[in-house]
Amino acid sequence: MSSSKIQVRGQPLLRVPARNHRMTHLVVCGVSTKRHHREINALSSNSGPSLDSVPTRTDKRQFLRGDGNGKFGRFGGKFVPETLMSRLIELEDEFNFVRCDHEFQEELTTALRDYVGRETPLYFAERLTEHYKNIVPTIEGGPEIYLKREDLSHCGSHKINNALAQAMISRRLGCSRVVAATGAGQHGVATAAACAKLSLECTVFMGAADIEKQSFNVLSMKLLGAQVISVEGTFKDASSEAIRNWVENLYTTYYLSGTVVGPHPCPIIVREFQSVIGKETRRQAKQLWGGKPDVLVACVGSGSNALGLFHEFVGDEDVRLVGVEAAGLGLDSGKHSATLAFGDVGVYHGSMSYLLQDDQGQILKPHSVGVGLEYPGVGPEISFMKETGRAEFYTATDEEAIQGTYLIVRHEQNLIITGPFLNSNWTVTVTINRKID
Ligand SMILES: Cc1ncc(COP(=O)(O)O)c(C=O)c1O
Repeated sequence: MSSSKIQVRGQPLLRVPARNHRMTHLVVCGVSTKRHHREINALSSNSGPSLDSVPTRTDKRQFLRGDGNGKFGRFGGKFVPETLMSRLIELEDEFNFVRCDHEFQEELTTALRDYVGRETPLYFAERLTEHYKNIVPTIEGGPEIYLKREDLSHCGSHKINNALAQAMISRRLGCSRVVAATGAGQHGVATAAACAKLSLECTVFMGAADIEKQSFNVLSMKLLGAQVISVEGTFKDASSEAIRNWVENLYTTYYLSGTVVGPHPCPIIVREFQSVIGKETRRQAKQLWGGKPDVLVACVGSGSNALGLFHEFVGDEDVRLVGVEAAGLGLDSGKHSATLAFGDVGVYHGSMSYLLQDDQGQILKPHSVGVGLEYPGVGPEISFMKETGRAEFYTATDEEAIQGTYLIVRHEQNLIITGPFLNSNWTVTVTINRKID
């Protein structure tokens, strides 16, 4: 699929200054590492560039949360054919209604508690913390590492938080059929489970090679009653097919987006339903050490688990937000999914964001050993976080991710890795070594 390309080369990006702590609480989804502060250098400190240099429309915190209409600076929007507009407006209306609707919220809270198993633990990774104490010389004593255990949710990942809530919206809109696209299969399983719970018909589009690699998740989807349709290509091609199918059946079918991309209001909807992760983390941190996490770390495929964790803390300038994207076989190899490191701004799947594209604006094929990270774009809010400097972004290669997985499994043997083996949310947190400028 082609995209309209807007070159942004030459625009300097703000960097978040490294800060000086005595002891850190790092949360991984997400990492929370816990530390006692000697001195908190907030983003407004004199030690580096600060958010003060970001143009503010009203108030800085509000600015960082977007304009409420799906625009984050120049990112986001609704680049869709006219025929889709009215359906997207209806979706937005319904979403705005259910956000404040007591009945909907009560049903969702109950389902998240009893069906999904929330809240998920904020688990102190003691042995991993011990491991890093000796090898991270920059942080005195090393960080205390906490894992936000989204893997313990029903179906094995954060995807169910959003799938369940959106399936409820589908039912309210009178759509008895749901379509979705999945890469690793985690969003497919979550959508199939949500549809089974709510008696909705479910069709999941998935790349042919991904079907083979993630055969266990495909079996789960089928057991849950979903139809799995094989698509030539990878996750991006499956997404295009799912959207096409939705457009052909607009008034009977609901497109259940699994991540924070697509035309407005899709990214906002997914982020809203995933932000339960960050809200719980704030509460749990307060209970566990009476403060906030110092650093939050999440892998960035397109950004749903990252924003789920980060969004709650966007206005907390003393909390560093760190995203890690997939460098695949290496940034110079051309085989990676490092959209923020290598992408240019363009329009894809209905919104404007950073994209992996060639000089003609054609989408480049992404690669990662973590199937769920193979997408050529990121959500508009993630792009905005990079551009404003509110979040820091790094990359990790396939090899580093694999080593990270081994390390975490060996140190925290009680963790059961489910779903996409190499893109579980916490694997990347130990392999950060290159900062994206
Ligand atoms: C467990 C898990 N984490 C992370 C991701 C990456 O997606 P996102 O960046 O939207 O969280 C996926 C995608 O399939 C996933 O299954």
